[in-house]
Parts: sequence; structure tokens; C-alpha cells
Amino acid sequence: MKAAIVGVTGYTGIELLRIIQGHPQLEIGTVHSYSLHKHSIEEEYPHLQALLHLPVHPFDPVMIMAENDLVFFATPAGVAKELATVFITENFPVIDLSGDFRLKDPALYTQWYEKDAAAPELLAKATYALPEFTSQELGNLISNPGCYATAALLTIAPLVKGGLVDSSSLILDGKSGLSGAGKTLGESTHYVNVDENMSLYKLNRHQHIPEILQQLQQWNEEITNIHFTTSLIPVKRGIFMTAYAKVTDGLSETEIYQAYERCYQNQPFVRLQPVGTLPQLRQVTGTNFCDIGVGLNAETGIVTVVGVIDNLMKGAAGQAIQNYNRWAGIEETSGLWHLPLYP
Ligand SMILES: NC(=O)c1ccc[n+]([C@@H]2O[C@H](COP(=O)([O-])OP(=O)(O)OC[C@H]3O[C@@H](n4cnc5c(N)ncnc54)[C@H](OP(=O)(O)O)[C@@H]3O)[C@@H](O)[C@H]2O)c1
Repeated sequence: MKAAIVGVTGYTGIELLRIIQGHPQLEIGTVHSYSLHKHSIEEEYPHLQALLHLPVHPFDPVMIMAENDLVFFATPAGVAKELATVFITENFPVIDLSGDFRLKDPALYTQWYEKDAAAPELLAKATYALPEFTSQELGNLISNPGCYATAALLTIAPLVKGGLVDSSSLILDGKSGLSGAGKTLGESTHYVNVDENMSLYKLNRHQHIPEILQQLQQWNEEITNIHFTTSLIPVKRGIFMTAYAKVTDGLSETEIYQAYERCYQNQPFVRLQPVGTLPQLRQVTGTNFCDIGVGLNAETGIVTVVGVIDNLMKGAAGQAIQNYNRWAGIEETSGLWHLPLYP
């Protein structure tokens, strides 16, 4: 099959390009950008020199549908809900990496993204697809989960689904590398403000809060809110998610660990760490893995769970390809079985 990428010049668009280039069953068809219409993408991205000769086109739905089998949207919030309409109406397959089709309730989108939501009939066609927990057949509009949401949900799913913790005590503390903010430079992402520094941002305002809650409520409808914080750390890639919660009386670390083993035993991209060890951020860099480690403080009854992902891979482009593989009915790991970059 051939895929188009809209937003190819952004961080997740370029990452899609990298994965698709090595994918055995998927090829790049056409690539599109809003402002960059150069002869070839390698003129803007020298690291692609001699590897790709791809003309960058303006957005062109007729060309996309004529020359491709599906389209990925790797564009900022607010773009896909407009530009993807023509494809959705034609039932042409779309995988959207933005937040535009994630929230089922349009009022929540407007509240958290401060934009008008996609039309309800479009939202109704979207499948929010966190692959490890999406068993239904994927339709032709796949909404790829957010990076923080992916890390948070995979880190705590066994606790919440199994009723192993007091959910009102749950705290999710996420730390992200700079590429999570996209390629546009802002004051908070300026090198001088980030290097050798750490800052907490969007306290109680991060747009992934309703997305995480929406999924948690499907697992446990008694959950009414979550406490979730987001910080910037001076690395290029990666999300380091730490979850803390009070465990149900009498549960041992072994029992919690076994719940994680049962939950993820058939999931190729979730690697549970051996008992007593916690994952480090770098061990997933450049891969689609989510590595998880669990530790219980028997004195306080608080469990700490650490989950790490590469935000551009499992948090975005890698997961989008995982969703493509599932949608296309091919091996879930196709094109995604990379060794991590090390060191
Ligand atoms: N970065 C992450 O870790 C991450 C993780 C998960 C999900 N996401 C989501 O994925 C999406 C892309 O993120 P990113 O980090 O790759 O962003 P980015 O680096 O800022 O790139 C955005 C891309 O969208 C294009 N674009 C901007 N406005 C457009 C418009 N009106 N019409 C068409 N194209 C437009 C840009 O094109 P030109 O600049 O070439 O004109 C650029 O190629 C966002 O919705 C983000 O929330 C990002």
C-alpha cells in the first residue's frame, strides 16, 4: 500500500517517513506541507540526502486519493478536523495523530483545545485506538492517542482495570523531552530555558487530561477525575511517566507484578521489567516499546509504577504504524521491530 503524509515537515511527520521507508508492506506515496513546497524534502532535511527524492506538495486531496491508499495527518490540533473531512466523507482511510478526533464529547474538545470541535458525524466515525486495548475492528478513521496519554494509560491500565488501587489516590506525573512540543520554537522551549533545567507546565490544564479520563472511565466508570502533571526535561525524545497510588489492602508486590504480566503477556510492544528494576528513558529511544517497572512500598502501601516511551514513536508515529498494521491485517510489529538507539 501507499501512504500520504500531511504535515511531513514536522517532527512526527518526519518520523512517519523514517518508519515507512523501512516498512516491508507500506510505501510513501505523496508528502504534503503547509508552507514548504520545495523540490525535494532532502533540501530542507540534509539527513535525508541521497536517501529520498520526494517532492513536497501543497495539500491536495485529489492527488492524495489518486496516488495513495491511506493518509496520515501529522498536523497541529484544529487542522485534521477540517482537512480530513473530504477523505472521511469518501470513506478514504485516515490515521490522525492530532487530538482532533480523540474526544467523543465535542464540548470537552472545545473546552480543552479552545477550538470548535469536529462535526459530531465525523467524531462518530472515529476509533480511538490504543492498540493494546482496542480489540474491535478498526474503521477508516483512526484517532491515534496522544503521547502523554499513551504513556499514562499503559503505565496504569492493570492497576485500574484490576481494581488494585484506590483510584482517588492515583497521581500521574509525566516528564517529556522537547520534541513533544513540535518543531516551532517558543520561549519555554528555547535552549537557554531548557538546558540544565526542569519546569512544570500547564498545571491542571493539559489537554491530555480529558483523553486519559475518557479511557479510564471505560475501564472503571467510578473514576471521576485524575491528578496529572506534565514537566519539560532537557532531552530531545522521551516521556518518563511515574504513577503513584494507594494499593488495595494486603496486596503484595508480587501480586501487582503478576497483574501486569497477565495484562501484557501477548503485547509485543510492552516490555515488563524484571521485579525490582525500573526502566530508564533511553532504553526505548527510537523504538515503539513502552517499558514498565513496578515497586511497592510495603510501609506506606503506595505503589510506584514507571512507564517510559519515545514520544515520537510509541507516542505518535510508531503507534500510528502499529495501528496501520492492525487495520491492514498484517503483523502488528511490521516495520517497527527496531533495536533502540544506544547509547
Ligand atoms: N511531537 C510529539 O511528540 C507528538 C506526539 C503525539 C502526537 N503529536 C501530535 O501530532 C501532531 C503533529 O505534531 P508535531 O510535533 O509533528 O508538530 P510540528 O513539528 O509542529 O509539525 C506540524 C506539521 O503540520 C504542518 N501544518 C501546520 N499547520 C498546517 C495547516 N494549517 N495545514 C496543513 N499542515 C499544517 C506543518 O507544516 P509546515 O510547517 O511545513 O508548513 C508541519 O509539517 C500534533 O497534533 C501533535 O499534538 C505530537
